[in-house]
Amino acid sequence: MTKATVVSGIRPTGNLHLGNYFGAVRSFLKMQNDYNCYFFIADIHSLTTHPTPENLQNGVKQVLAEYLACGLDPEKSTIFIQSDVPEITELYTFLNMNAYLGELERTTSFKEKARKQPENVNAGLLTYPVLMASDIIIHKAQFVPVGKDQEQNLEMARKFAGRFNRMYNREVFPIPQPFTFDGGDMIKIPGLDGSGKMGKSEGNAIALFEDPKSIRKKVMRAVTDAGPTEPNSPKPEPIQNLFSLMKIMSDPEVVKQFDAAYNDCSIRYGDLKKQLAEDIVAFTTPIRERITEILEDDAYLAKVARMGAEKARESASATLKEVKELIGFRRLF
Ligand code: TRP
Repeated sequence: MTKATVVSGIRPTGNLHLGNYFGAVRSFLKMQNDYNCYFFIADIHSLTTHPTPENLQNGVKQVLAEYLACGLDPEKSTIFIQSDVPEITELYTFLNMNAYLGELERTTSFKEKARKQPENVNAGLLTYPVLMASDIIIHKAQFVPVGKDQEQNLEMARKFAGRFNRMYNREVFPIPQPFTFDGGDMIKIPGLDGSGKMGKSEGNAIALFEDPKSIRKKVMRAVTDAGPTEPNSPKPEPIQNLFSLMKIMSDPEVVKQFDAAYNDCSIRYGDLKKQLAEDIVAFTTPIRERITEILEDDAYLAKVARMGAEKARESASATLKEVKELIGFRRLF
Protein backbone atom coordinates (compact mmCIF):
# COMPACT_ATOMS: atom_id res chain seq x y z
CA MET A 1 0.00 0.00 0.00
CA THR A 2 1.35 3.43 -0.82
CA LYS A 3 1.70 5.77 2.10
CA ALA A 4 -0.18 9.06 2.19
CA THR A 5 1.98 12.15 1.79
CA VAL A 6 2.44 14.66 4.59
CA VAL A 7 4.11 18.07 4.25
CA SER A 8 4.99 20.43 7.05
CA GLY A 9 7.11 23.56 7.05
CA ILE A 10 9.02 24.93 9.96
CA ARG A 11 10.08 28.54 10.15
CA PRO A 12 13.80 28.89 10.91
CA THR A 13 13.30 30.85 14.08
CA GLY A 14 15.40 28.37 16.03
CA ASN A 15 15.24 27.17 19.59
CA LEU A 16 12.39 24.74 19.84
CA HIS A 17 10.74 24.78 23.23
CA LEU A 18 8.87 22.21 25.29
CA GLY A 19 5.57 23.41 23.82
CA ASN A 20 6.81 22.74 20.27
CA TYR A 21 8.17 19.37 21.31
CA PHE A 22 5.05 17.99 22.95
CA GLY A 23 2.64 19.88 20.69
CA ALA A 24 4.17 18.99 17.33
CA VAL A 25 7.61 17.40 17.10
CA ARG A 26 6.63 14.28 19.00
CA SER A 27 3.81 13.69 16.53
CA PHE A 28 6.17 14.26 13.59
CA LEU A 29 8.36 11.49 14.99
CA LYS A 30 5.47 9.05 15.02
CA MET A 31 4.30 10.07 11.54
CA GLN A 32 7.69 9.25 10.05
CA ASN A 33 6.89 5.54 10.08
CA ASP A 34 3.42 5.62 8.61
CA TYR A 35 3.52 8.45 6.07
CA ASN A 36 5.61 9.67 3.22
CA CYS A 37 6.83 12.76 5.09
CA TYR A 38 8.33 15.99 3.81
CA PHE A 39 9.57 18.25 6.59
CA PHE A 40 11.24 21.41 5.42
CA ILE A 41 12.72 24.63 6.70
CA ALA A 42 10.74 27.56 5.31
CA ASP A 43 13.67 29.93 4.81
CA ILE A 44 12.06 31.80 1.91
CA HIS A 45 9.01 32.53 4.04
CA SER A 46 11.26 33.99 6.70
CA LEU A 47 12.44 36.69 4.26
CA THR A 48 9.19 38.58 4.82
CA THR A 49 10.71 40.02 7.99
CA HIS A 50 14.09 40.84 6.39
CA PRO A 51 16.60 38.81 8.39
CA THR A 52 20.27 39.63 7.88
CA PRO A 53 22.19 36.99 5.92
CA GLU A 54 23.85 35.88 9.19
CA ASN A 55 20.53 35.55 10.99
CA LEU A 56 19.12 33.55 8.11
CA GLN A 57 22.09 31.19 7.99
CA ASN A 58 22.19 30.65 11.73
CA GLY A 59 18.46 30.16 11.95
CA VAL A 60 18.44 27.48 9.26
CA LYS A 61 21.38 25.63 10.81
CA GLN A 62 19.95 25.78 14.32
CA VAL A 63 16.50 24.55 13.41
CA LEU A 64 17.90 21.73 11.27
CA ALA A 65 20.17 20.60 14.11
CA GLU A 66 17.33 20.80 16.62
CA TYR A 67 14.92 18.72 14.60
CA LEU A 68 17.58 16.10 13.92
CA ALA A 69 18.47 16.05 17.62
CA CYS A 70 14.81 15.40 18.44
CA GLY A 71 14.78 12.39 16.15
CA LEU A 72 13.59 13.52 12.73
CA ASP A 73 15.26 10.88 10.63
CA PRO A 74 16.64 11.73 7.17
CA GLU A 75 16.46 8.04 6.25
CA LYS A 76 12.72 7.93 6.93
CA SER A 77 11.59 11.44 6.00
CA THR A 78 12.57 13.94 3.36
CA ILE A 79 14.11 16.76 5.37
CA PHE A 80 15.04 19.73 3.22
CA ILE A 81 15.55 23.45 2.98
CA GLN A 82 12.91 25.30 0.96
CA SER A 83 15.36 27.46 -0.99
CA ASP A 84 17.14 24.31 -2.21
CA VAL A 85 14.05 23.43 -4.24
CA PRO A 86 13.56 26.14 -6.91
CA GLU A 87 10.54 24.25 -8.29
CA ILE A 88 8.58 25.56 -5.30
CA THR A 89 9.03 29.20 -6.29
CA GLU A 90 8.28 28.40 -9.90
CA LEU A 91 4.94 26.84 -8.98
CA TYR A 92 4.35 29.80 -6.66
CA THR A 93 4.68 32.16 -9.63
CA PHE A 94 2.01 30.22 -11.53
CA LEU A 95 -0.32 30.01 -8.54
CA ASN A 96 0.00 33.77 -8.03
CA MET A 97 -1.84 34.32 -11.33
CA ASN A 98 -4.95 32.80 -9.79
CA ALA A 99 -4.67 34.28 -6.32
CA TYR A 100 -6.77 37.38 -5.91
CA LEU A 101 -5.83 40.56 -4.14
CA GLY A 102 -9.09 40.67 -2.23
CA GLU A 103 -8.82 37.20 -0.72
CA LEU A 104 -5.14 37.70 0.13
CA GLU A 105 -5.84 41.02 1.82
CA ARG A 106 -8.61 39.44 3.88
CA THR A 107 -6.30 36.78 5.39
CA THR A 108 -6.07 37.20 9.14
CA SER A 109 -2.33 36.60 9.31
CA PHE A 110 -1.73 39.24 6.63
CA LYS A 111 -3.87 41.79 8.43
CA GLU A 112 -2.13 41.04 11.69
CA LYS A 113 1.36 41.33 10.27
CA ALA A 114 0.44 44.49 8.40
CA ARG A 115 -0.72 45.95 11.69
CA LYS A 116 2.38 44.79 13.57
CA GLN A 117 4.91 45.97 10.99
CA PRO A 118 3.26 48.87 9.11
CA GLU A 119 6.67 49.94 7.80
CA ASN A 120 7.13 46.63 5.98
CA VAL A 121 3.90 45.52 4.33
CA ASN A 122 5.62 43.82 1.41
CA ALA A 123 4.15 41.73 -1.41
CA GLY A 124 5.76 38.58 0.01
CA LEU A 125 3.69 39.02 3.13
CA LEU A 126 0.57 39.34 1.01
CA THR A 127 1.32 36.21 -1.01
CA TYR A 128 2.63 34.18 1.94
CA PRO A 129 -0.34 31.77 1.66
CA VAL A 130 0.41 31.23 -2.04
CA LEU A 131 3.98 30.19 -1.33
CA MET A 132 2.72 27.96 1.46
CA ALA A 133 0.20 26.39 -0.92
CA SER A 134 3.02 25.73 -3.37
CA ASP A 135 5.09 24.05 -0.60
CA ILE A 136 2.22 21.70 0.08
CA ILE A 137 0.77 20.85 -3.29
CA ILE A 138 4.07 20.50 -5.13
CA HIS A 139 4.40 17.14 -3.34
CA LYS A 140 0.71 16.38 -3.83
CA ALA A 141 0.30 16.20 -0.07
CA GLN A 142 -2.86 14.72 1.40
CA PHE A 143 -2.17 15.87 4.95
CA VAL A 144 -0.65 18.90 6.60
CA PRO A 145 -0.04 18.81 10.34
CA VAL A 146 -0.55 22.37 11.47
CA GLY A 147 -1.56 24.24 14.56
CA LYS A 148 -4.60 26.45 14.91
CA ASP A 149 -2.73 29.55 13.77
CA GLN A 150 -2.12 28.00 10.34
CA GLU A 151 -5.65 26.78 9.67
CA GLN A 152 -6.56 29.72 7.46
CA ASN A 153 -3.37 29.41 5.43
CA LEU A 154 -4.19 25.75 4.86
CA GLU A 155 -7.72 26.70 3.85
CA MET A 156 -6.18 29.00 1.21
CA ALA A 157 -3.96 26.15 -0.03
CA ARG A 158 -7.06 23.99 -0.43
CA LYS A 159 -8.72 26.78 -2.38
CA PHE A 160 -5.74 27.33 -4.71
CA ALA A 161 -5.36 23.60 -5.34
CA GLY A 162 -9.02 23.19 -6.21
CA ARG A 163 -8.98 26.29 -8.37
CA PHE A 164 -6.05 25.01 -10.40
CA ASN A 165 -7.67 21.61 -10.85
CA ARG A 166 -10.87 23.23 -12.10
CA MET A 167 -9.13 25.70 -14.36
CA TYR A 168 -7.30 22.93 -16.22
CA ASN A 169 -10.01 20.38 -15.72
CA ARG A 170 -7.72 17.79 -14.18
CA GLU A 171 -7.27 16.40 -10.68
CA VAL A 172 -3.59 17.34 -10.54
CA PHE A 173 -3.56 18.21 -6.88
CA PRO A 174 -5.21 16.35 -4.03
CA ILE A 175 -6.99 18.79 -1.72
CA PRO A 176 -4.77 18.80 1.38
CA GLN A 177 -6.43 18.03 4.71
CA PRO A 178 -5.43 19.38 8.09
CA PHE A 179 -3.86 16.57 10.06
CA THR A 180 -5.37 16.14 13.45
CA PHE A 181 -3.41 14.09 15.92
CA ASP A 182 -5.11 11.47 18.09
CA GLY A 183 -6.78 13.21 21.02
CA GLY A 184 -4.18 12.10 23.55
CA ASP A 185 -1.30 13.45 21.53
CA MET A 186 -2.33 17.06 21.49
CA ILE A 187 -0.96 18.16 24.79
CA LYS A 188 -1.18 21.79 25.65
CA ILE A 189 1.97 22.88 27.40
CA PRO A 190 1.22 25.72 29.77
CA GLY A 191 3.51 28.69 30.23
CA LEU A 192 5.22 29.45 33.51
CA ASP A 193 3.61 32.83 33.91
CA GLY A 194 0.41 31.57 35.41
CA SER A 195 -1.84 31.38 32.36
CA GLY A 196 -2.10 30.46 28.73
CA LYS A 197 0.18 28.21 26.75
CA MET A 198 3.90 28.07 26.29
CA GLY A 199 5.03 30.13 23.33
CA LYS A 200 8.14 31.89 22.20
CA SER A 201 6.42 35.21 21.67
CA GLU A 202 4.71 34.88 25.05
CA GLY A 203 8.18 34.87 26.64
CA ASN A 204 7.26 32.02 28.97
CA ALA A 205 8.98 29.18 27.15
CA ILE A 206 11.71 26.73 28.11
CA ALA A 207 13.87 25.86 25.11
CA LEU A 208 15.21 22.37 24.54
CA PHE A 209 18.60 24.01 24.05
CA GLU A 210 18.36 25.98 27.29
CA ASP A 211 21.13 25.52 29.84
CA PRO A 212 20.18 23.91 33.17
CA LYS A 213 20.91 27.04 35.20
CA SER A 214 18.47 29.06 33.17
CA ILE A 215 15.84 26.29 33.32
CA ARG A 216 16.07 26.18 37.12
CA LYS A 217 15.80 29.96 37.33
CA LYS A 218 12.71 30.06 35.11
CA VAL A 219 10.93 27.27 36.95
CA MET A 220 11.72 28.72 40.38
CA ARG A 221 10.24 32.03 39.21
CA ALA A 222 6.99 30.45 37.98
CA VAL A 223 3.85 32.10 39.32
CA THR A 224 2.23 30.44 42.38
CA ASP A 225 0.00 31.59 45.23
CA ALA A 226 -0.11 31.45 49.03
CA GLY A 227 -1.11 27.78 48.97
CA PRO A 228 -4.35 25.95 49.73
CA THR A 229 -6.00 26.64 53.08
CA GLU A 230 -8.73 24.02 52.86
CA PRO A 231 -8.25 20.34 52.09
CA ASN A 232 -9.10 19.20 48.56
CA SER A 233 -9.49 22.72 47.13
CA PRO A 234 -9.64 23.13 43.37
CA LYS A 235 -6.32 24.27 41.89
CA PRO A 236 -6.16 27.82 40.53
CA GLU A 237 -4.77 28.09 36.99
CA PRO A 238 -1.10 28.85 37.77
CA ILE A 239 -0.95 25.86 40.13
CA GLN A 240 -2.81 23.60 37.74
CA ASN A 241 -0.30 24.61 35.06
CA LEU A 242 2.64 23.52 37.20
CA PHE A 243 0.92 20.21 37.84
CA SER A 244 0.18 19.79 34.13
CA LEU A 245 3.83 20.35 33.29
CA MET A 246 4.84 17.94 36.01
CA LYS A 247 2.52 15.29 34.61
CA ILE A 248 4.42 15.44 31.36
CA MET A 249 7.91 15.73 32.77
CA SER A 250 7.92 13.75 36.01
CA ASP A 251 7.35 10.27 37.31
CA PRO A 252 3.64 9.54 37.96
CA GLU A 253 4.47 8.58 41.57
CA VAL A 254 6.06 11.97 42.15
CA VAL A 255 3.02 13.76 40.75
CA LYS A 256 0.80 11.69 43.03
CA GLN A 257 2.81 12.69 46.09
CA PHE A 258 2.61 16.39 45.32
CA ASP A 259 -1.05 16.06 44.52
CA ALA A 260 -1.67 14.46 47.90
CA ALA A 261 0.37 17.20 49.57
CA TYR A 262 -1.74 19.81 47.83
CA ASN A 263 -4.91 18.12 48.96
CA ASP A 264 -3.86 17.96 52.63
CA CYS A 265 -2.46 21.52 52.47
CA SER A 266 1.07 20.47 53.34
CA ILE A 267 2.48 21.30 49.91
CA ARG A 268 5.58 23.46 49.58
CA TYR A 269 5.71 24.98 46.13
CA GLY A 270 9.49 25.39 46.42
CA ASP A 271 9.88 21.63 46.64
CA LEU A 272 7.54 21.07 43.72
CA LYS A 273 9.43 23.56 41.57
CA LYS A 274 12.79 22.06 42.46
CA GLN A 275 11.57 18.62 41.48
CA LEU A 276 10.00 19.92 38.27
CA ALA A 277 13.14 21.84 37.30
CA GLU A 278 15.32 18.74 37.78
CA ASP A 279 12.95 16.61 35.74
CA ILE A 280 12.95 19.15 32.90
CA VAL A 281 16.75 19.30 33.03
CA ALA A 282 16.91 15.51 32.90
CA PHE A 283 14.63 15.48 29.87
CA THR A 284 16.34 18.27 27.93
CA THR A 285 19.98 17.45 28.72
CA PRO A 286 20.45 14.61 26.22
CA ILE A 287 18.66 16.63 23.55
CA ARG A 288 20.75 19.71 24.29
CA GLU A 289 23.94 17.67 24.10
CA ARG A 290 22.86 16.14 20.83
CA ILE A 291 22.05 19.59 19.37
CA THR A 292 25.53 20.79 20.31
CA GLU A 293 27.10 17.71 18.74
CA ILE A 294 25.18 18.14 15.50
CA LEU A 295 25.92 21.87 15.33
CA GLU A 296 29.62 21.00 15.34
CA ASP A 297 29.21 18.52 12.51
CA ASP A 298 28.87 20.61 9.38
CA ALA A 299 29.61 17.63 7.16
CA TYR A 300 26.64 15.74 8.58
CA LEU A 301 24.32 18.74 8.25
CA ALA A 302 25.44 19.26 4.66
CA LYS A 303 24.83 15.62 3.87
CA VAL A 304 21.32 15.68 5.34
CA ALA A 305 20.47 18.85 3.40
CA ARG A 306 21.86 17.43 0.17
CA MET A 307 19.97 14.16 0.51
CA GLY A 308 16.76 16.01 1.35
CA ALA A 309 17.10 18.46 -1.53
CA GLU A 310 17.61 15.60 -3.93
CA LYS A 311 14.52 13.70 -2.81
CA ALA A 312 12.38 16.83 -2.62
CA ARG A 313 13.40 17.99 -6.08
CA GLU A 314 12.59 14.64 -7.56
CA SER A 315 9.02 14.85 -6.31
CA ALA A 316 8.67 18.58 -7.01
CA SER A 317 9.99 18.47 -10.55
CA ALA A 318 7.61 15.65 -11.49
CA THR A 319 4.64 17.76 -10.37
CA LEU A 320 5.98 20.90 -12.00
CA LYS A 321 6.42 19.13 -15.32
CA GLU A 322 2.80 18.05 -15.25
CA VAL A 323 1.68 21.56 -14.29
CA LYS A 324 3.66 23.27 -17.03
CA GLU A 325 2.24 21.01 -19.68
CA LEU A 326 -1.27 21.66 -18.48
CA ILE A 327 -0.74 25.42 -18.44
CA GLY A 328 0.43 25.25 -22.03
CA PHE A 329 4.18 25.55 -21.71
CA ARG A 330 4.72 23.14 -24.52
CA ARG A 331 5.82 24.21 -27.93
CA LEU A 332 3.90 23.99 -31.18
CA PHE A 333 7.20 24.26 -33.00
N1 TRP B 1 3.46 29.14 7.78
C1 TRP B 1 3.99 28.06 8.59
C2 TRP B 1 4.28 28.61 9.99
O1 TRP B 1 4.41 29.76 10.17
C3 TRP B 1 5.24 27.48 8.02
C4 TRP B 1 4.99 26.86 6.70
C5 TRP B 1 5.43 27.30 5.49
C6 TRP B 1 4.23 25.67 6.46
N2 TRP B 1 5.05 26.46 4.51
C7 TRP B 1 4.30 25.45 5.06
C8 TRP B 1 3.54 24.78 7.29
C9 TRP B 1 3.67 24.35 4.50
C10 TRP B 1 2.91 23.68 6.72
C11 TRP B 1 2.97 23.47 5.32
O2 TRP B 1 4.44 27.85 10.90
